[in-house]
Amino acid sequence: MQKKPWSGRFSRETEDEVEEFTESISVDKRLYKYDIEGSKAHARMLHRIGVLNRRELNLLLKGLEEIRKEIESGKFLFTVELEDIHMNIERRLIEKIGPVGEKLHTGRSRNDQVVLDMRLYMRDVIHDMAEKISNLQDALIEKARAHMDVIMPGFTHLQHAQPIIFSHHLLAYWEMLDRDKERLEDSLKRVNILPLGSGALAGTSYNIDRRYLARVLGFEKISANSMDAVSDRDFILEFLSHCAILAMHLSRFSEDLIIWSSQEFSFIELPDEFCTGSSMMPQKKNPDILELIRGKSGRLYGNLVALLTTMKGLPLSYNRDMQEDKMPLFDTVDTIGSILDLFPSIIRGMIVNKENMMAAAYKGYMWATDMADYLVRKGVPFRSAHEITGRIVSHCIELGKDVYDLRLSELKGFSEKFDRDIYRILKPEKSVELRNIYGGTGKRAILKRLREIERNRK
Ligand code: ARG
Repeated sequence: MQKKPWSGRFSRETEDEVEEFTESISVDKRLYKYDIEGSKAHARMLHRIGVLNRRELNLLLKGLEEIRKEIESGKFLFTVELEDIHMNIERRLIEKIGPVGEKLHTGRSRNDQVVLDMRLYMRDVIHDMAEKISNLQDALIEKARAHMDVIMPGFTHLQHAQPIIFSHHLLAYWEMLDRDKERLEDSLKRVNILPLGSGALAGTSYNIDRRYLARVLGFEKISANSMDAVSDRDFILEFLSHCAILAMHLSRFSEDLIIWSSQEFSFIELPDEFCTGSSMMPQKKNPDILELIRGKSGRLYGNLVALLTTMKGLPLSYNRDMQEDKMPLFDTVDTIGSILDLFPSIIRGMIVNKENMMAAAYKGYMWATDMADYLVRKGVPFRSAHEITGRIVSHCIELGKDVYDLRLSELKGFSEKFDRDIYRILKPEKSVELRNIYGGTGKRAILKRLREIERNRK
């Protein structure tokens, strides 16, 4: 039985079930690197302010470094009796270097220590995630560049609306992902704040050099209120919320790809490596990966709601409830991480059925807006032009024809303004060409945006 660091106050041992119930080591051991980094900085600072002598500092640094190696080589024995990563490491340190190890926790509480670890961890996670988002964005750019001549129907309400260039659709996701990345990177300024010196809640009576600690650990700022510092989990909530939005984007993207790969659409074919079959129906090729990405978004929202709910009733300052921040956080980090690892290959590997997309772009009377605009250019007010065009669409539906099958004389029956040139503008190729406005689906507009993106990246 391990002696607890707080055993002085207690006359009886903790129940085994209580240890099992309260432990967090099974979850927070993945913070070990940050815990050690924080402890080394803390030890250096303690030496600087005269709490430790040079020999003691060296012993501590060496001990901590050895523990890091023990953990990384799998030799470290984690135990639930010591509850969490902080106590597991501290106890091992004392075991290794003796009483000097007992000095490390001077002027520090696990309450500020755990926030320190989490902030150091989040910094790395955010950098990693931003990089993974960039990889996916790069895949989108490659695919968009390679398919500038692919025209497809654009949808609203999942009904054929207006022709678009396929690349424009892909690059819409590029923009969403860019906002996701921007949000994450922006949050760094609220993550990168040193909590050490806050102690359990009230600050510490030791003359801790907080500026020095911030410098050594690469923090931009130091926390300004010790009570806030130990009870703030906003930076985790913010991350979970940014990830929930990112997951929503990836889920919508998955849904688009699932629809496009269906028999009815046949716009794309997904790479075999990213699909699975059916145990019963031999012909099946299912987009399970995309469905799971869509499905996992539910859990990712849940992680945000879980922590919001944990936090909402807590009086200041630290409460043990906050230990529950780690499961949802790590789950979100892992889940989004694996989604972002898979997605670029799906984009790069999918086959685009240009002919099917083009054939579909001829369906659904998508020339209607351009026809109305044509009449407007010939002097018809937009509302009447809309009405006339609507009647032509309805006429086509009735006859089972499309506009290309109607003779000019027939069109003139609807409006005298129609001329031969109308047939030229009603093609999907022409329709997209008319939309070179900045941000539009015209080829020149898209290429301009691509150039902008590439310029900003350098
Ligand atoms: N394992 C705890 C957590 O993750 C560390 C802080 C514990 N502090 C305390 N006073 N019990 O929140």
